[in-house]
Amino acid sequence: MPRSRAGWVRSDGRYSRAVKLEQVRRAYSSVAELYIGLFGTSQQVHADDLALIGRQLAGRPGTVLDLGCGPGHITDYLRSLGVDATGIDMVPEFIAHAQAAHPGGRYQLGSMEALDVADHSTAGILAWGSLIHLPPQDLDGVLAEFRRAMAPAGRLVTSFFVGDEVAAFDHKVVTAYRWPVDEFSERLARAGFTEVERLQRPSEGPHRPHAAIAAIATEGLGRIRQASGGNRHEVLQEPPVARRAPRRSGPRRSTPGG
Ligand SMILES: C[S@@+](CC[C@H](N)C(=O)[O-])C[C@H]1O[C@@H](n2cnc3c(N)ncnc32)[C@H](O)[C@@H]1O
Repeated sequence: MPRSRAGWVRSDGRYSRAVKLEQVRRAYSSVAELYIGLFGTSQQVHADDLALIGRQLAGRPGTVLDLGCGPGHITDYLRSLGVDATGIDMVPEFIAHAQAAHPGGRYQLGSMEALDVADHSTAGILAWGSLIHLPPQDLDGVLAEFRRAMAPAGRLVTSFFVGDEVAAFDHKVVTAYRWPVDEFSERLARAGFTEVERLQRPSEGPHRPHAAIAAIATEGLGRIRQASGGNRHEVLQEPPVARRAPRRSGPRRSTPGG
């Protein structure tokens, strides 16, 4: 196995993915207290975002996973709406905080890249700002795992930073990637999720342009098939192009850390 400066690298990319994940985990661990202070309550989330999350994920039967839940405040918000929500994050400091701050809640340490749930068992997934650190070549594998877990017609809600092209940028915690909104939507479609709602905000003050997409799990498993062994995946067909006009823009916050 060749060794790169980042760590051991296999030709299928699996081990290097583990190294990148560990970099993200350590980066959030080292700023967890600060992050919780800046972003850790639902009052610190834009009202339009909370409304979208509630509209798309509340009022349906079944379990919703808040993947990359951070301090757990949005999981708690979902529970306040009567949703059977579980928060999952790979940073122990966040899970410890969430359990202490929301004692009635359900929070687990784990990775969104290998969910401990049966196929098609999950009514909804929230990945709020938690896909932003994935290098573009790793996004499809994670979406395939979401699609595996998702029940028919389940809802996915996710948010990310927007740019004219897919590009890395210097996020305050650790390198993140911005996406053209249509391109992100196409990746979702390829994985078997059809966009049903979009929210976009332009750059404002220190906040970068931001988007959120809600998508529904469509029939079949999508056009990405996960090959045996983790993050390897293949696209089975070309994706349909799903273009939509931006919806509305509003004031204030962006995805945390932007
Ligand atoms: C920008 S923060 C967003 C946190 C929270 N959703 C919020 O809105 O405040 C990104 C979060 O995703 C988590 N994360 C990133 N990759 C993850 C993975 N593979 N599994 C679980 N959590 C992950 C990080 O630990 C961090 O808590």
